[in-house]
Amino acid sequence: MPSRQQHADSLTTAASRRFSSGADPVSGWSAQSPVHRAACRVPGTIALMVTPRRHPEDPYAAIASLYDIEHVGYDDDLDLYLNLAVATGDPILELGCGTGRLLIPLAEAGHRVTGIDLSRPMLDRARQFAETAGVLDRVTLQRGAMTDADLAPGGPFGLVIVAINGLLHLPTAAAQREAFAAARRALDPRGQLVIDVLNPTPDTLRGFDQSLVHEGTWHDAAGDRVDKFAARRLSAARQTIETELWYERIGPEGVVRRTTTSYQLRYVYRAELDLMLELAGFAEWQVYGSYDLDPYDDGADRIVVTAEVTASSAPPPT
Ligand SMILES: C[S@@+](CC[C@H](N)C(=O)[O-])C[C@H]1O[C@@H](n2cnc3c(N)ncnc32)[C@H](O)[C@@H]1O
Repeated sequence: MPSRQQHADSLTTAASRRFSSGADPVSGWSAQSPVHRAACRVPGTIALMVTPRRHPEDPYAAIASLYDIEHVGYDDDLDLYLNLAVATGDPILELGCGTGRLLIPLAEAGHRVTGIDLSRPMLDRARQFAETAGVLDRVTLQRGAMTDADLAPGGPFGLVIVAINGLLHLPTAAAQREAFAAARRALDPRGQLVIDVLNPTPDTLRGFDQSLVHEGTWHDAAGDRVDKFAARRLSAARQTIETELWYERIGPEGVVRRTTTSYQLRYVYRAELDLMLELAGFAEWQVYGSYDLDPYDDGADRIVVTAEVTASSAPPPT
């Protein structure tokens, strides 16, 4: 069975072929454009093409393929979800499933999964990955908001997942609470909600308050180099991190294509999560500090919460 790396490579290669043979569907830029030809005639010069931000309501629309290039080797959290899926059983709902980084391996492990996401381009890629992996019959994808988790098809669910800071995309404490309440309604009595967010220690937050940081370099299947830059501004009063991202893709002719996007994250503290879970009606929960379920302490990188609909002391649901 092809790995996700292979799926990503095949999609990226297909995308690269499209770009090199005509106009980029996102930027509208063509490799045959006058600026490209001019740049290639003058040795040592580069042309810079900037992708306009066309979807202010969907920050992931312009960067869906770049998200995969950046995350293709990232699976630090996958075992956690695979193990919980075995313990709890399916069906599984992922809120903000993106391109299916977690959802597809869960389906490959035999689970029935539903993913909802606000971004159609992210969902389109998830669907393509599911098809390539031959698991489309176990995967349901729907455009929707986390706060409408209880409307997701395929429930009630044994496991609801909100992975890798997805919850922080909700702009207010009220919206985050609403997502917890909706997730609670989407779960069956044996069900469990899993949330993974960054741990906002003073050091971590200081690290986010930077005007410009080079966050990494990747290479896509066509050999193009992709650099990611970020500018983040912290507001302690609003508990927000304003984020601006630039991805620069350098093709073989030295042409740089820049794609930008921006979004806000509203970070949460552990005590606030406790209150939100209580208000949403969860019976009990555990808070961990890593994907290996280490104790949550001062040095924890993450806040990983598993919350139960039914208390462990209660008689098993019939
Ligand atoms: C950081 S990505 C995580 C994607 C995926 N869960 C993963 O682990 O790779 C966050 C995702 O949440 C989606 N998203 C943001 N706000 C959302 C909302 N209010 N409802 C549903 N999805 C949302 C974005 O479109 C994006 O795909």
